[in-house]
Amino acid sequence: ATNQQWGGRFSEATDAFVQRFTASVDFDQRLYAHDIQGSIAHATMLAKVGVLTDEERDQIITGLETIRDEIEQGIFAWSVELEDVHMNIEARLTQLIGITGKKLHTGRSRNDQVATDIRLYLRDEIDQIAAELTRLQTGLLDLAEREADTILPGFTHLQTAQPVTFGHHMLAWFEMLTRDKGRLLDCRTRLNQSPLGAAALAGTSYPIDRALSAELLGFSKATENSLDSVSDRDFAIEFCAFASLLMTHLSRASEELVIWTSAQFDFIQLPDRFCTGSSIMPQKKNPDVPELVRGKSGRVNGHLIALLTLMKSQPLAYNKDNQEDKEPLFDAVDTVKDCLRAFADMVPALITNKSPMLAAAKRGYATATDLADYLVRKGVAFRDAHEIVGRSVAFGIEQNKDLGELSLAELQQFSDQIDQDVFEVLTLEGSVAARDHLGGTAPNQVRQAVARARTMLTKE
Ligand code: ARG
Repeated sequence: ATNQQWGGRFSEATDAFVQRFTASVDFDQRLYAHDIQGSIAHATMLAKVGVLTDEERDQIITGLETIRDEIEQGIFAWSVELEDVHMNIEARLTQLIGITGKKLHTGRSRNDQVATDIRLYLRDEIDQIAAELTRLQTGLLDLAEREADTILPGFTHLQTAQPVTFGHHMLAWFEMLTRDKGRLLDCRTRLNQSPLGAAALAGTSYPIDRALSAELLGFSKATENSLDSVSDRDFAIEFCAFASLLMTHLSRASEELVIWTSAQFDFIQLPDRFCTGSSIMPQKKNPDVPELVRGKSGRVNGHLIALLTLMKSQPLAYNKDNQEDKEPLFDAVDTVKDCLRAFADMVPALITNKSPMLAAAKRGYATATDLADYLVRKGVAFRDAHEIVGRSVAFGIEQNKDLGELSLAELQQFSDQIDQDVFEVLTLEGSVAARDHLGGTAPNQVRQAVARARTMLTKE
């Protein structure tokens, strides 16, 4: 027998391998709820413009709701012969309600149908991801506030640079996520238009009301051009670009967690429930969760490239290539949600080890810049001050003493501008407190930044 959806033109059945090769039902059945939502809006619109009767519309809607229940109860018989989620649902509808089921596809094609489904799906996922981002951001603000005074070495080149506060460091992560969320919501705005009515590519000869179906589905408007509507997947690419950047940020944060939990740093501990052990080395407690987040950034980058490559050579309008949009997009969504969840759960539970952080900041001559700035305030030119402090540090290394541990006489060997008051700037607390301006690391600034960020989150 030939295919029941397009059998008319065909004289033999599809090859069994070709059927399996071209089918997408195994993965696109994930779209069932949005497919049904789109079909209900389409049928409602068709009845409004008189293409369907109100009775036909009601029959269709009841049938679609039955199908949704069947799918959710796990009793729906998915069939690979019916290729994709759209034809599986439509065939079942006709089984359930008879000839009226065959009228649902009037004035529509699977091309505008799938373009609609995937936008509806992604819009829902974006809303969940945005909420999870906010949960993580809130956790970071709480942690930043708790640790506003906690001092650790700040690094450049992973070499101790200047002391910073742990709260300030957490706020750096927060800022990255704020930009990520902005990108995510931009993507939502652009995808939130209804392609329904574009039909296969050119529109349809029925007197459809595209604005109505757009409104019923919560889209901001109907798309402008039918060819573009069914063919472009730029919104999915844009989502993956957001996802790649987010994963890049989470990966960087993960790398820091991995470094900080090592015995050599010992800056923080992850609670046992976020770690795993070794099957051979009894002492091990491994930071698997951040390591996996770091690793998973790779697959998300891969999905972005997959979708860009999928799109780049397609002539207008719809091509079957686009069926390949789903698996990368779904996996990007799943990965981002899992990684955000891991981080949002983990961040409030981080345990900071204050004394190793402080000791590390002391070891690295982190107040050298403060000594140079002190000399400048005493009238020494900055380049000369740099040289003087460099020689003081070399002397400290020789003596195995931090700058603040050198005696006044020892320091004065390098400049007669140094007085007793130098010891105020050579403390780590003095160093961070001095950076008291917008965006600076001073505890006072961290608290103000947390307050501004909280206000911003409540306004979202
Ligand atoms: N499963 C298809 C996809 O995901 C649905 C659209 C098929 N359209 C077509 N003309 N073959 O893109």
